[in-house]
Amino acid sequence: LIGQDVQVQGQSFPRDDFTNVTPKILEKVGVNLHNQKHHPLWIIKERIKTHFYSSYIGRWGNPLFSVHDNLSPVVSVQQNFDSLLIPPDHPSRKKGDNYYINRTMMLRAHTSAHQRELVSAGLDAFLLAGDVYRRDEIDSSHYPVFHQMEGVRLFSNHELFSSVDGGQSLSLFESCGRRTPQKQEVHSLEAVKLVEFNLKDTLTSLILQLFGPEVELRWVDCYFPFTHPSFELEVRFQGQWLEVLGCGVMEQQLLHSAGAGHKLGWAFGLGLERLAMVLFNIPDIRLFWSRDERFLKQFRVHDLQQPISFQPLSKFPPLHNDISFWIPDSGTFSQNDFFDLVRTIGGDLVEQVTLVDQFTHPKTGRRSECYRIVYRHMERTLTQEEVRTTHEQIERAAESDLGVQGRY
Ligand code: PHE
Repeated sequence: LIGQDVQVQGQSFPRDDFTNVTPKILEKVGVNLHNQKHHPLWIIKERIKTHFYSSYIGRWGNPLFSVHDNLSPVVSVQQNFDSLLIPPDHPSRKKGDNYYINRTMMLRAHTSAHQRELVSAGLDAFLLAGDVYRRDEIDSSHYPVFHQMEGVRLFSNHELFSSVDGGQSLSLFESCGRRTPQKQEVHSLEAVKLVEFNLKDTLTSLILQLFGPEVELRWVDCYFPFTHPSFELEVRFQGQWLEVLGCGVMEQQLLHSAGAGHKLGWAFGLGLERLAMVLFNIPDIRLFWSRDERFLKQFRVHDLQQPISFQPLSKFPPLHNDISFWIPDSGTFSQNDFFDLVRTIGGDLVEQVTLVDQFTHPKTGRRSECYRIVYRHMERTLTQEEVRTTHEQIERAAESDLGVQGRY
């Protein structure tokens, strides 16, 4: 209801010109698939937890990493972006890519949103699993809600160098250093290399534990505003290199602002759906939201480590329908607005939306776009009738909500 507050999990937030969360998306908040016992995302989370609990033991025999899986996805824009040194004009803040509740609050776009608060709370090593929200195209591997596992580990001078021969004389920081592709200005190269080695070693053992010793891995250099140097880890799956996580040495300014400026740290964020799809052979990301017993019962195993290979439900036939319209001259139309509208109305009946044609009228200069919507139900055959009703609703809503002019 326009003009009224946005309600999320019993809390109410005033709307403003940034508000773009939809009721369909808000329905997902609080579902917490990663906390539902025997759900494939829960299984992956538990396997990762078990691996970290058994591999990294603290001084008193305690697990080194604490695990957090119940932090609300409703975060401030400050947490999601500013706390991570993401500049005010950074493209990742775009309204078209994120779900904003209003100008100050949003659904987190990554679990990194909690790095600073957990470091500030005094944690030195933690894992954090949670649902994250991004506006995106629709296809079998993209869904606007997915799940990530964040990991952070900090090192004091003693923790980093005590095991190194002659390490007492080394230091974490240097005063007049320069930023290079290898390191941040304030870090000593020897400290960074040890942190980087520990990070890569930790993640390599995790992936080998999950996928078995045969898995092929590669590290790719990349960029994040909150880590330097930064890397992505790719896993070879069915002949393709698949990105499964981003990571790096934490920016010192972030640690400093969290009261841990005397330590160095690494952080990673991995996509749980990606891992689960590869590990269990799950062909479509929408299946994670299925309540069909034929899906869920395949994961109800007694032994967490038992190998599981998902038997796909028979694929029911797709139906497709095109929609073309004139784009409003006002320049306000964005493709993601249309994707959201389709998702709001079509829900999980929509498998894919693709732009199939566009042209500009030679006389009037008006632009027309044509999208193909593929409808398919994961669990039954759709009727033409059902699809037509939904498609007509989409046609009407596109005109009334997005200001396009239908060519239906
Ligand atoms: N938050 C990043 C993403 O979602 C991943 C990441 C986490 C990168 C931690 C570096 C450190 O893409």
